[in-house]
Formats: sequence, C-alpha cells, structure tokens
Amino acid sequence: MRIGLCARLMLASVVAAAPWIVQAADKGKAAGPASAAQLERGRYLVDIGGCNDCHTPGYMQNAGKIPEAQWLTGDKLGWRGPWGTTYAVNLRTYMQDLTEAQWLKTAKTLQTRPPMPWFAVQKMSTADLRAIYALIRHLGPGGQAAPAYVPPDKEPPPPFVQFPAPPK
Ligand code: HEC
Repeated sequence: MRIGLCARLMLASVVAAAPWIVQAADKGKAAGPASAAQLERGRYLVDIGGCNDCHTPGYMQNAGKIPEAQWLTGDKLGWRGPWGTTYAVNLRTYMQDLTEAQWLKTAKTLQTRPPMPWFAVQKMSTADLRAIYALIRHLGPGGQAAPAYVPPDKEPPPPFVQFPAPPK
C-alpha cells in the first residue's frame, strides 16, 4: 500500500517536472524567457523582412534554402557604390554584444551606408524588434566577422556588386 502511493507520487512529480525541463532547455539557448511564439515570429520576420537576403551567405542564390544554423552570419560579398564598399555584418556576433534594451535603442535610430535598409528597421514595431532579437540570441554566436568597410577611393577585393552612379 505504502509503496503504491510512493510510486504514484513519484510519477506525478515526473509529469509535473516535464514542462519545466523543456523550459529550462529553451532558456539555455535564449537570452531571457523567449517564448516559442516569439521565436517563430522572429523567424518569420527575418525571413520575409529580407534580412537573410544580404546577411546570410548564399541565401538569395539558393532560393532561401540555407539551414537556420547559418542564418545571419554575415557575408563576404561587397556592395560597392559612391559610399565605398560595405559588407552585411555578422548579426549573430553583433547581437551577442547588445542587451535587448540597447538593440531597441539602436534599431529605432539606425542609420548605415547603402544598401542596408536601415529605414525599414527604424519603422519596425518594438514587438517585432524584440522578436528578431530573441531569434538571433536563440541562434547564438556563429560564423566569422564580415570584411571591414572599404572607403570609396580604395579598390575592394572581389566578389563585389558594383552599383551604378546615382541618378542626377
Ligand atoms: C540589401 C542588403 C541588406 C538587407 C536586405 C539587410 N541588410 Fe543589414 N546590412 C547590410 C549591409 C551592407 C550592412 C553594413 C552597412 C555599413 O557598413 O554601413 C548592414 C548592416 C546592418 C546592421 C549593423 C548596423 C551597425 O550598427 O553597424 C544591422 C543591425 C542590420 N544590418 C540589420 C538588418 C536587419 C534586421 C535586416 C532585415 C530587416 C537587414 N539588416 C537587411 C545589408 C543588408
């Protein structure tokens, strides 16, 4: 009788602990308590918001078929124009150095050289920016640093995309 009750109590405690274990595993990867729904939203926004197009190597060329583990690791492809040559930075590294509050502040006032659509990031809602932050922190650090910016009077090494002179 006694053993039976004990076994049932143990079983009950294992069942009760199960959701907890899942949460704890999630927490290890994410910064703060990012919910599954928030991560899903971040994934969706990064994908349809075009961030992968430039910040994930080979994404455009492979019709988006790049494993999530490689997302946003930055690219060696240069974007050359009158502004010099820019490179889509490694957002996986970038985000590790920022708290969520710092990211929100940075994003709302973001201004970069072309072709980064900083004006689109500025217009994102706080909830959307939080979701993007949650996803990138969840993915963790990965990849290497993108090449450094090259000023207009210097020739960048290939590969780079050459923009035409701006319309007069
Ligand atoms: C058309 C290509 C392109 C797209 C699309 C793009 N980026 Fe970028 N991004 C860049 C380039 C290039 C830079 C580096 C700009 C520079 O050196 O001034 C950059 C820089 C950044 C930076 C760093 C700014 C800093 O403080 O140095 C952030 C953050 C960023 N992008 C976020 C995003 C997010 C989020 C998205 C999706 C909504 C996105 N980018 C979409 C090309 C792109």
